[in-house]
Amino acid sequence: MRIAILGSGKIGYAILKGLKENDIAEYLIGTGRSEATLNKIKNLGVEATSDNNYAVRNADYIIISVKPQHFMSLIKTIDPESWKEKTVISVMAGIKISTIKKLIEAREIYRAMPNINALIGKSTTAIAEGRNESVDKIFKSIGSTYWIQEDLLDVWTALIGSGPAFVAELVDAFVLGAVNCGMPRELAYNTVLDMIKSTSDMLSKSNSHPLDLRDNVTTPAGTTIKGLLVMESEGIKAGIIKTIEASYKRSIDLGKDMQNNLIS
Ligand SMILES: NC(=O)c1ccc[n+]([C@@H]2O[C@H](COP(=O)([O-])OP(=O)(O)OC[C@H]3O[C@@H](n4cnc5c(N)ncnc54)[C@H](OP(=O)(O)O)[C@@H]3O)[C@@H](O)[C@H]2O)c1
Repeated sequence: MRIAILGSGKIGYAILKGLKENDIAEYLIGTGRSEATLNKIKNLGVEATSDNNYAVRNADYIIISVKPQHFMSLIKTIDPESWKEKTVISVMAGIKISTIKKLIEAREIYRAMPNINALIGKSTTAIAEGRNESVDKIFKSIGSTYWIQEDLLDVWTALIGSGPAFVAELVDAFVLGAVNCGMPRELAYNTVLDMIKSTSDMLSKSNSHPLDLRDNVTTPAGTTIKGLLVMESEGIKAGIIKTIEASYKRSIDLGKDMQNNLIS
């Protein structure tokens, strides 16, 4: 595969790194504007350029990973003819495939939504829509892939895109809880991470509902039920459901703003 990444910032760089480390591309090139970004790409041992048109012409698979508000200025740097016969994958949040199709005439267009865990090769990436084995292989180089309908990308963005930030907050809350009861901070931090990882493994290995695990731990009149009572009365579960809902609605609104700006 001949692959170009247009915009090698946090996500673009992570994809370049995954592709390079897994030796997936027969040709790989990353683009950027600043010297700092171009040097970062070169330091990976990957060809770097600020010439987007050159990158598009030399590749078959083009990943667009600039910020959505920079999409129009990026397009202006590329000859419309250069997109023909290319497979384009946008990781830009909020810009629909139908909108990209109006602006670029490519062979096929997909959207992918990775998350920041791509930086350690552990993204959980949604790809819309259909199925393309080469595109799947590209995103498997930074973690796991799920092919979904495009209309699920807003909830995906809330749950999987913003999710690492929400989990980081929960981790901090657990750690503060332990520190409050006298545990040294570093010990609390390491053990909370271990406990979350192993609970996640336990849940994914058992075929049962998460509440079965909860009930297994909950001894009558024991420690867990006392904690659960506080979780319930403080509305922690409802708070998390509303957190995802608020993030989901924001994703929809941002998408609408973006569409209006691009089309107007
Ligand atoms: N961060 C996330 O967790 C995440 C998750 C899923 C999807 N996304 C999507 O991924 C995209 C990138 O996000 P990010 O967080 O990686 O942003 P970022 O770190 O700001 O990276 C954007 C990159 O685009 C480059 N760029 C801008 N205009 C360019 C142009 N005309 N030619 C070449 N390069 C250009 C910038 O280059 P310079 O550095 O040289 O200025 C920068 O390196 C966004 O559309 C976002 O919606 C992000």
